[in-house]
Amino acid sequence: MKILAGSHNGYLAQKVSQKTGFSVIPISISRFPNGEYKIQIKESLSGQKCIIINSMSHPTHDNIMQMFLLADAAKRSGAKKITAIVPWLAYSPQDKVFRQGEPLSSKVLVSLLESLPINNFILLDVHSSLILDYFQKPVKEISALPLFQEYINQNLTINSVDWYVVALDKGSIKRSSRLAKLLKLEIKNFNKKRDQETGEITYTRFPEELQNKNVIIVDDYTSTGGTLVQAVEHLKGNGARECVCFLTYCVSREGLDAVLKSRINQLIITNSITYPDLKHDKLTILDISSLIAQEIL
Ligand code: R5P
Repeated sequence: MKILAGSHNGYLAQKVSQKTGFSVIPISISRFPNGEYKIQIKESLSGQKCIIINSMSHPTHDNIMQMFLLADAAKRSGAKKITAIVPWLAYSPQDKVFRQGEPLSSKVLVSLLESLPINNFILLDVHSSLILDYFQKPVKEISALPLFQEYINQNLTINSVDWYVVALDKGSIKRSSRLAKLLKLEIKNFNKKRDQETGEITYTRFPEELQNKNVIIVDDYTSTGGTLVQAVEHLKGNGARECVCFLTYCVSREGLDAVLKSRINQLIITNSITYPDLKHDKLTILDISSLIAQEIL
């Protein structure tokens, strides 16, 4: 088994290599003067199985294009089986046509990925199960929840009287319920509304039981930070104590910074998307390479 990665995913590829012993294949990635990519895999992959690790985060379109070109190059270099490991699947929040005239963007991207010589896909914490239905080829979703559970067991002293899991919206009920079940905690739901035009978020309900209680929030991603910042303000403003939040992805640095500036007590994210010089006393970054290693060993 060989590991390939685009230019923004080398760190994660090295981590997976350390855990599995599979080598990371050298790739030259440069650009033509007009900005188009010029890619070359520097070793033959003849008869080899290979994985391509590419989180399609910032710069989104560069990472998408690198995935396309790497898959084609791997096939032409002789790979006999190609597995695409895509921790952050770009466009996945656009899993529906929300307003007339919009494209079904996530399905467009999935169709393009499926047209490549990729045999199967491994995704991490997809935004919604609709996305899995858009795939025709084998696709598996893995989850960061076991990492979150492990972190909680090792770092928080929780009990079912003082701690609750809070689901911020309908979309997060499934993920939040799974975590609540693993932790044997009760779950409370918020009612979040987002204005499709302005993106503005409002929470319209505060479960009274959360007064003077500690709260665990789990969500798939933050972009502007609005969802979490508003949630934390709403909770703290109504008398909740500790707010500890778990996210699989932070798709923008600005959103991440906004969440860290809020009254949140702890933010725990994963290294599925990396940022340089990311350090903050409220922030913990969990390593997902063990989850990927488990899938490919
Ligand atoms: C919602 O469905 C998502 O799971 C996130 O809660 C949300 O969209 C994050 O976006 P933002 O950080 O911009 O509020």
